[in-house]
Amino acid sequence: MLEDKKIILGVCGSIAAYKSATLVRLLVKAGAQVQVIMTPDATNFITPLTLSTLSKRPVYSDYFKPETGEWNNHVELGLWADAMIMAPASANTMAKMATGLVDNLLTAVYLSAKCPVYFAPAMDLDMWKHESTQHNITALQSFENILIPPGTGELASGLHGEGRMAEPEEIIAFLTNDIKEKLPLFNQKVLVTAGPTYEAIDPVRFIGNHSSGKMGFALADELASLGADVTLIAGPTAQASKYKSIKRIDVTSAADMLQQCLTYFPTVNACVMCAAVADYTPATVAAQKIKKHDDGLSIELKKTTDILKTLGGQKHAGQILVGFALETQNEEQYAIEKLQKKNLDLIVLNSLNDAGAGFKNDTNKVTLIDRELQKTTFGLKNKAEVARDICIKLTELLKK
Ligand code: CTP
Repeated sequence: MLEDKKIILGVCGSIAAYKSATLVRLLVKAGAQVQVIMTPDATNFITPLTLSTLSKRPVYSDYFKPETGEWNNHVELGLWADAMIMAPASANTMAKMATGLVDNLLTAVYLSAKCPVYFAPAMDLDMWKHESTQHNITALQSFENILIPPGTGELASGLHGEGRMAEPEEIIAFLTNDIKEKLPLFNQKVLVTAGPTYEAIDPVRFIGNHSSGKMGFALADELASLGADVTLIAGPTAQASKYKSIKRIDVTSAADMLQQCLTYFPTVNACVMCAAVADYTPATVAAQKIKKHDDGLSIELKKTTDILKTLGGQKHAGQILVGFALETQNEEQYAIEKLQKKNLDLIVLNSLNDAGAGFKNDTNKVTLIDRELQKTTFGLKNKAEVARDICIKLTELLKK
C-alpha cells in the first residue's frame, strides 16, 4: 500500500522524535518516498543528519537553505505529498494546526497540503488529558485529519498513562489499513488470467502463441493498486508483477489453466480472462520425442475447454466476468456474440487491424462493450493506461 507513495513526515519537538528514525526506515522499506520536515525544536531531539541518511533525502526545517539562499517551497511540498504524517505530533504543533497558526515550515506545509493528514500525538499524561489538547484533537478530526491514537505505558516523565506516541510498526499498520480501506476495490477478490498456454506435442515441443502476458500483468497490477485482492493465473511468460500482494499461480497448458480457474472462480467477485488460451491441443502427447521422417507430419488436434464459457455457466449473482476478443473482421459483431454466448458482463475488443494493438506490443487500442451493449472506444494507449480504463469500468460494474 505504501509502495511509491510520496509521504511527508512531520517531526515535532518531543522525546518521541527518537522513534522517527525507525518510522522513516519502515516507510522507506515499504517502498515510500519520504520527505522529512522537522520543527526547529525537533532538531534538539534527533539530528536532521540521522533522518536524511535514513530517508535518502535532505531534511527541511527552515524556509530557506542558508547555504544557497534557496527557498523550501511549502506549497510545492504540500502538493507533492500523497499523505502527510505528523509523528510525533506535539501538543504545541497540534494547537497550531487546529488554529491555522503558521510559524515554521512544517505548519506552512500542513496548511498547503491537500492530501490526507495523519497525526500521532506524543505528550505527557496530563497534557494529553487537558481539555485544550482534546479540543484541538476534535478540531483536527473535524478537518478530516486522522488521529493515530497514542498508547498507554511509561512516559518520559516517569508517569504511567496515556500519551505515548504509537510505535512505528503500529503507525505503519494503521496507515496501510487506512489507505487500503479507502481504495475503490478494497475487499474485492479478482481473478486475472494472463499470457499464452503451451500445448505439449511431445516432451520437447509444444503449440503456443505470441501472447506476451503484458496486458494481463498490467491489469493485475492496476487491480492491486486499487486495493483488490488479486490472484493471477499466468501461462508461460517473462513478465513480473509490480506488487508482492498479487498471488501468482503459474500454469502451462489450457487444461492446467482451466483447473486453476475452476478452483479460484467460485470465491471471487470478478474474473478478467485475459489469457490467450489455446483453442486446440494435440489429441495425444507422444511419450518420447517424435523423430523426423522424410515425409510430412500430421498432428491431430482436439478442442480445449472454453474456460470463459465454462465460468460464464457457473457465474453466480453479483459476480462480474470479463472476456477479451481479438478480431480481424466484423469486430464488434463477433465481440457482442462472444459476450452473449459466454454470459459475460464486459468484453474488451482489440482489433488486429489497429496498428499498435494486440500481442507483444506495449500499447493497445480497445473498445469496451458491456451487457447493455454500451460501447466505449479508446485511443492507442500503453497497456498500463488501458488496464486503468478497464479497471474503471470494472469498478463501476462491481458497484452496480
Ligand atoms: N478463452 C478461454 N478458453 C479458451 C479459449 C478462449 O477462456 N479455450 C477466452 C480468452 O481468454 C478470451 C476469450 O475467451 O477472454 C476470447 O477468446 P477467442 O479465442 O478470441 O474466442 P473464441 O470464443 O475462442 O472464438 P474464435 O477463436 O473463433 O474467435
